[in-house]
Amino acid sequence: MTHTFDARTEDEMIEVGRQLARLLPARAAVILTGDLGAGKTTLSKGITAERTGLDPDEVSSPTFSLIHEYGDPPQVYHIDLYRLETDAEVWGLGLEELFDRKALVLIEWGERFEKLYGVPLWRVKISATPLSPHTSPRRVTCTSPAPSSA
Ligand SMILES: Nc1ncnc2c1ncn2[C@@H]1O[C@H](COP(=O)(O)OP(=O)(O)O)[C@@H](O)[C@H]1O
Ligand SMILES: [Mg+2]
Repeated sequence: MTHTFDARTEDEMIEVGRQLARLLPARAAVILTGDLGAGKTTLSKGITAERTGLDPDEVSSPTFSLIHEYGDPPQVYHIDLYRLETDAEVWGLGLEELFDRKALVLIEWGERFEKLYGVPLWRVKISATPLSPHTSPRRVTCTSPAPSSA
């Protein structure tokens, strides 16, 4: 099942994130795909804000810290694999332990290592749309895991 949303601005992207948070289950592994600057972190702000009640401004990119957690106990883990290169580095993060928890695990650049995860994956893709030259529109598609792997 695929859901599609359009976002013309950063604020609209955060709102799309809030809507996604409402359709994702309490526990899910979510791969966020899109070019650098596509809006993966912006979308994660909306998802996390909706799940935890935090302000979107309290959610920041985990590019350097690799994993951020939100909520007590954590309801959202936000991960960015952009800087990682080897399977061993990804194993070292202990993702399988996070997948066991009742939480969302949001993974930017997660498709690069998806063979390692061993859990059903939700896929969120962000791409540019040809709506208007004056805005910076993005199309967001969210696909649930295939029934055979759910
Ligand atoms: N429609 C839009 N949706 C999301 N971000 C947008 C949009 N238009 C412009 N932007 C800008 O693009 C940047 C997206 O960055 P970010 O969310 O960090 O992307 P990524 O994590 O995919 O690299 C932000 O600075 C944001 O202000
Ligand atoms: Mg990012």
